[in-house]
Amino acid sequence: MGWNSVGLEQIGIVASPAYESEAMCILQEGKETEVTTETLVLIENRSGNKILAICRSGTGSNDSLKTTFYNPGVAYAKSGKGPSTAKEFYGFRLVVVGDVSDGEIKQNKIIIAPASPVYRFEEGFNPMQLFGRSSHTIGYYATGKPSWKIPVLTEYIPHHIGVFGVTGSGKSYLTRYQIIPLLRQAGYDVMIFDWKGSDYAPFYGKVVNMGDIELDEQSVLTYLAETLNYFGGGNIGNKLITYLEEVVSEGGWRGDNVEETKRNLWERLRAVIASDNVEASGKPSRWDRIYSQKAQRYFEKLTAEDLKPIMGRTTAKELVDVLRQNGVLVVDLSYGSKEHKLSIFLSVVRYLKKLMEEKNKLRIALVVDEAPQYCPWNPQGLEGETTREIMGIAALGRSYNLSITLIAQGIAGEIGINAAVRRNLNTLFVGRIHPLDAQEAEKFFATSLVNASNLLRLPEGQFYLIGKMNPSPVPLLLTFEIPEREKVGATR
Ligand SMILES: Nc1ncnc2c1ncn2[C@@H]1O[C@H](COP(=O)(O)OP(=O)(O)OP(=O)(O)O)[C@@H](O)[C@H]1O
Ligand SMILES: [Mg+2]
Repeated sequence: MGWNSVGLEQIGIVASPAYESEAMCILQEGKETEVTTETLVLIENRSGNKILAICRSGTGSNDSLKTTFYNPGVAYAKSGKGPSTAKEFYGFRLVVVGDVSDGEIKQNKIIIAPASPVYRFEEGFNPMQLFGRSSHTIGYYATGKPSWKIPVLTEYIPHHIGVFGVTGSGKSYLTRYQIIPLLRQAGYDVMIFDWKGSDYAPFYGKVVNMGDIELDEQSVLTYLAETLNYFGGGNIGNKLITYLEEVVSEGGWRGDNVEETKRNLWERLRAVIASDNVEASGKPSRWDRIYSQKAQRYFEKLTAEDLKPIMGRTTAKELVDVLRQNGVLVVDLSYGSKEHKLSIFLSVVRYLKKLMEEKNKLRIALVVDEAPQYCPWNPQGLEGETTREIMGIAALGRSYNLSITLIAQGIAGEIGINAAVRRNLNTLFVGRIHPLDAQEAEKFFATSLVNASNLLRLPEGQFYLIGKMNPSPVPLLLTFEIPEREKVGATR
């Protein structure tokens, strides 16, 4: 790329002191109304190279308005008059992205010379090409033109993705309009777990209802055990759970309707109890009655509603077949208990894990909205299992091309997702955050001059792209267009 042909407009010069990764730019008069934070600029370093940088953290300064001592400017202000603007100037701190002398980005190692001119790019030049020629892109650079599409490194898709932002920050839109299409283009089949059934299910052709999905053996057992209250616990309860386990693993108990299923389960449980509690003479022992009575008491409480979750007949394998045929599949989790929802997730995830353990490359991406429901900071009950399985498939997924995208309103602590799970997410999209997350979020932006006050104010639909899929070493602010009909106030 020849730099001579690139349209550049000078906006200021580098101030003193300047460093190799950061510098202050003093803006030419009037430019303060045109140049905004997040503008991409080119520094023509007098020390010889060309450096791409981002304007962050602006300053307006006027010495005659300093408030630490009394001076004529302060006197003017006091009397309601305007002070002189002769000593006024504006500046931005510039965060270095890299050395682009050769037309592509590499680390800058040369100190920026003070007084080096700073330019912004004129229309007609797309600085995104400096990030390399990736055929895959996401959104566009938020302070640029819609044609400034941000290239992404799709080889890091199986290093997993996190999408964070408060409610209404645009996470579901970003996922629907940008992340899922990107995953598809990169050759992944996408399975979406739609917790509320409203964010994805209405927008995709292939939707499976949670009631139709068959839970795996382990999920059926944990589900039934929880619903039966562990037969009251204790030694008798524990023993009954092992009997139930035998019944469930035997299979063949699922009937055509809930009544039949309940009857089957009960009869088989009775038979297992009987066969395990006989005296040498062949007569039932007294334990036979104790176990049976206790089991019956709990079984009688099971309602049709309780049994529905174990009636599904579409296996995880069939679900994956449907996914392969359609490219995108939404699992609608909108009705049913939390235990049921998590059980379905577990059944699918365990099947995928088995495929990976058999060394199959999957090229499947799981999109999990409302992620704190699955892997909260402090998992309880079934959440412990989902959290563990997510970590397990995250590790295997890197080798066998299973990608997980977790979407959450909060990053850390009570509103966020489990810290150990979070460490597996190597690409992040961070939109407007919750004040409780300010500290955690700032960690992702160390040395890039994005601070909590920026993050607390991001408009909807704007996200910083951070991490492995980002071709730039510093976070880039992206946005994306949504169709007219989706805009607020538009009638559907
Ligand atoms: N790129 C965008 N440009 C303009 N408006 C947008 C954009 N993305 C999202 N919005 C607006 O933001 C609203 C909220 O978006 P969305 O439903 O994706 O939020 P969310 O973060 O998923 O919230 P929740 O956590 O409650 O699910 C949308 O109704 C839409 O009007
Ligand atoms: Mg949402």
